[in-house]
Amino acid sequence: MADEVRVACVGAGGNAQGHMARLAEIENVRIVGICDLVEEKVQQACAEYEAAAYSDYRAMLDEIEADAVYVSVPPFAHEDAEVLAARKGCHLFVEKPVVLNMDKGYEIAEEIDKAGVLSCVGYQLRLLDSVQRARRYLATRTIGMVSAHRWGGLAGTPWWRVMDRSGGQLHEQTTHQVDLMRYLAGEIAEVYAQYSLRVMSDVDNLDIPDAQGALLKFHDGAIGMVMTSPMMRQGGGVSDLKFLVEDHVLEWQIGGNVMMPDDEPEVTAEPQETMNIDEAFIAAIRSDDSTTIPCSYRSGLQTSAVTLAANASARTGKPVEVPIV
Ligand SMILES: NC(=O)c1ccc[n+]([C@@H]2O[C@H](COP(=O)([O-])OP(=O)(O)OC[C@H]3O[C@@H](n4cnc5c(N)ncnc54)[C@H](O)[C@@H]3O)[C@@H](O)[C@H]2O)c1
Repeated sequence: MADEVRVACVGAGGNAQGHMARLAEIENVRIVGICDLVEEKVQQACAEYEAAAYSDYRAMLDEIEADAVYVSVPPFAHEDAEVLAARKGCHLFVEKPVVLNMDKGYEIAEEIDKAGVLSCVGYQLRLLDSVQRARRYLATRTIGMVSAHRWGGLAGTPWWRVMDRSGGQLHEQTTHQVDLMRYLAGEIAEVYAQYSLRVMSDVDNLDIPDAQGALLKFHDGAIGMVMTSPMMRQGGGVSDLKFLVEDHVLEWQIGGNVMMPDDEPEVTAEPQETMNIDEAFIAAIRSDDSTTIPCSYRSGLQTSAVTLAANASARTGKPVEVPIV
């Protein structure tokens, strides 16, 4: 039987519950501690997984023997859980976006490097077979332009609509598309963004823009654009990611196919069985080999560097260079 992996969870909200359910499916993984500020969520999750309940992650990290720690809290709530866990030698799973300010991200990245623990960020789309096929296809071709849209509805969690809690939709949610742009087309060097609040000022406690556009310049000269909005209160949505590749378009759709020219052999390749992100992280811990992990903390932080640069650009009205993490 595979070695037991003991997991402690900081945050027991909607997303963490998904991770816990997937972890519980993996042979010989045990959730040993769960911490959340909301008592009811902790009690419910601890009853289900027979874990010890905490309202303070510092106490949990002090008392619990864990091999890995999941940090699934809103962007503003990343304080010292990652640093304390890394110092204890725990491998770290951190949800995207990993921070709200880059200084905190650098501090955490350095602690992870110093401790030599594995890290994984929740950019699970990288694991999709369609993304892997697109990556192989694009690796040998010249990308001219990249565009992404994410037009949808407002997320239900109250912190999401507050700029200094979530960082806005581009940073919090459309980070997935920005991450795929980096993963498939290479690093982004500079961002110029414009934001506006057009129609959602009637929503209580909302101060995020409801229209965000960012023009991106990639290191190799490719040009990108990302447009995002949560205005669609009646439902529906638009979500796309397109690459203008030499003389044709590669379009990636979430859950769908990658469309490529008819003569491209990879189009007909059978979908592969891919691990989910929790299986990939646990496999890396068991083998002490990071190759199954789709996104390290530093790579996740690089995606945040792009969207935080966009936020700075929208504030100043000037293009902003993206730091190399
Ligand atoms: N990878 C994905 O596709 C994906 C999907 C959904 C959410 N997420 C990310 O997961 C994170 C959490 O999102 P969510 O939807 O679960 O939000 P949520 O509001 O449902 O849950 C967040 C939980 O964190 C808890 N929390 C906040 N500060 C804490 C602290 N100091 N100690 C312990 N608990 C604390 C809150 O009480 C809350 O229960 C966000 O960063 C979000 O972007 C990722």
